[in-house]
Amino acid sequence: MWSRSKHSFFSVILGRCRINGKWNTKLAIPPIGKRHKSFLSTDMPEAANFPNINTYEDLYKFSIAHSDMFWGELAKSRLHWDQPFTRVSECNMHEGKIKWFADGKLNVSYNCVDRHANETPDKLALIWEKDQPNEVESVSYKELLSMVCRIANCLMAQGIKKGDCVTIYMPVSPTAVATMLACARIGAVHNVVFAGFSAEALAQRIQSSSSKMVITTDQGVRGGKVIELKRTVDDAVKTCPSVQTVLVSKRTGANVPMSEKDIDFDEAIVNENSWCEPVSMDSEDWLFTLYTSGSTGKPKGIVHSQAGYLLYATVTSKFVFDIQEGDIFGCVADIGWITGHSYVVYGPLSNGTTTVLFESTPTYPDPGRYWDMVQRIKLTQFYGAPTAIRLLLKHGDSWVKKYDRSSLRVLGSVGEPINHEAWEWYLSVVGENRCTVVDTWWQTETGGIMITPRPSGVDDAIEPAMPMRPFYGIQPALLDESKTEIQGNSVSGACCIKYPWPGMARTILGDHNRFIETYYKPYPGLYFSGDGANRTADGNYQITGRMDDVINVSGHRLGTAEVEDVIDEHHAVAESAVVGYPHDIKGEAPFAFLTLKENQNISAEDLEKELKQMIKEKISSFAIPDIFIVTDGLPKTRSGKIMRRILRKIAVEDTDNLGDVSTLADPSVVKKLVASRKILKT
Ligand code: WT7
Repeated sequence: MWSRSKHSFFSVILGRCRINGKWNTKLAIPPIGKRHKSFLSTDMPEAANFPNINTYEDLYKFSIAHSDMFWGELAKSRLHWDQPFTRVSECNMHEGKIKWFADGKLNVSYNCVDRHANETPDKLALIWEKDQPNEVESVSYKELLSMVCRIANCLMAQGIKKGDCVTIYMPVSPTAVATMLACARIGAVHNVVFAGFSAEALAQRIQSSSSKMVITTDQGVRGGKVIELKRTVDDAVKTCPSVQTVLVSKRTGANVPMSEKDIDFDEAIVNENSWCEPVSMDSEDWLFTLYTSGSTGKPKGIVHSQAGYLLYATVTSKFVFDIQEGDIFGCVADIGWITGHSYVVYGPLSNGTTTVLFESTPTYPDPGRYWDMVQRIKLTQFYGAPTAIRLLLKHGDSWVKKYDRSSLRVLGSVGEPINHEAWEWYLSVVGENRCTVVDTWWQTETGGIMITPRPSGVDDAIEPAMPMRPFYGIQPALLDESKTEIQGNSVSGACCIKYPWPGMARTILGDHNRFIETYYKPYPGLYFSGDGANRTADGNYQITGRMDDVINVSGHRLGTAEVEDVIDEHHAVAESAVVGYPHDIKGEAPFAFLTLKENQNISAEDLEKELKQMIKEKISSFAIPDIFIVTDGLPKTRSGKIMRRILRKIAVEDTDNLGDVSTLADPSVVKKLVASRKILKT
């Protein structure tokens, strides 16, 4: 494994360090089967309508030069429209005004369920890999349609109308997926909150989205542990006057107290009619809100609309993962994150494929869990996070090799940069040097995968540990500090996207100004991702990480300000600053620096214990800093701004090169901090 002290943050994350005596090697991945020009016509017949397209490279160029024609053709052929559109894109990136297919109408649940239930009713839509390894439940498209309709009727019976927001606080299950689709069927906007968030975090998201209804389960089960979901919802809704009804589905059957607002969801569904007419929605009506962290303490409710999002999820699923008839697609993300929305639910189902719902953890009951599942269910694609790959790598190859993985063709990685060691292990041990490994870079805001090796040249070699190439229609640009686009290769800058694409977010719920300020103002006219990137000598993209005060803990996005807000609430704390530092499993971990008010009578151990508890209660356990340092002062400029650049260096013990500290109001605090970091280490 790499050593923390010798390398800078980026070289560690990007794996530029020496691994097993080798430097960055270029590995050619064998192509999947035999691929030649005819593949293009079978896989993307729409290409026949475009002039002179013979290769994937041609297709990429066409998609950029004739974006509207490209997306228009795909929208027509890949989606079912109740009313065809005549206009493709109408976007103004300066004002954050985004519209795709605006005069068309469709229904997302019809596209994801009905059209397959009509054609292949008995094909499996969902395979639920429950927490206990041998408890698998399957749902066919026909059954899913009936579930979605019953739930849709139940929501309407409870007064949910088109445009209302429904918060879903459930672990992944067929009921949860059908509930998302039921919202889509009747035009309600769903707001899925990851079922690991605390009552306060949940309440904040219910309030901010003005949800009328919350849907949950009695309890959750993960890694053999029971999670009290209903109890968390009870605590949350106490401060949420907008909530009229709480629907409670059974997961464990535990006897949970029910109040006046609570309704037994399973009982209510059984009594409903199994047909519900899908509502024709405008392309630009909202499909869902999903909260994600930003650089302030307040999470952003990212809004996605119907047709553009669905098209982008559909097309990226198909081409990035080479989805073929008969595939069983396994994305192990939770539905509480965008990966779960796009690649557990909407993308795979819209393509009519069978999608796996994974309820457990990578190490339950042992570190062979994923591969045991691959063997039993015969997954053809596996899409997971680098943090899990790193964890499993540490447990050794035998847990993988014990199981037959010959069904697998494509292995995907998402959520954070994947380091070389993990990437190579994924390819050679998990994928037996036979599978295609795709690093996929994207964000909650982009709706789907943006940069990934696959689409632009199927037979080309894949460079290790980088997403490499933009997807069709996607134009990345690197910008320098003077906001000028950097041309050429071997350069780095702020990672922006130059041109609109259908899956892009439409607004931040209730705060369109913040939407413009965050994404469109920093580099006027372009979408700014918040990430930095390199373009290598070969013209490939490599993401270096966030440029703002957002960190990525085990693939979970976290605003350092959110953690600071909680720490600052402690009665003994005067001020705090949280930064990210490299962690060999989590990728990044929060590191907290804090100062105390005068005359505090609290031991460092008690303080740390109390802060940890507070962060768990107010955010979630993944947000708890691994290290707390109590100090006399924080490094600040004379105008009072905390210099995080210095704190980041202290956190990684890169203190020989702290840069210019002369602008600090009190340069002596740096010496003290360096000393406390050293003490902490020993
Ligand atoms: C941030 C987005 C995309 C779904 C899961 C996370 C980081 C994501 C990669 C990757 C390097 C990556 C970025 C991005 N990120 N994928 N393949 N390589 N970094 O979605 O919570 O919206 O977070 O995750 O920093 O901005 P999210």
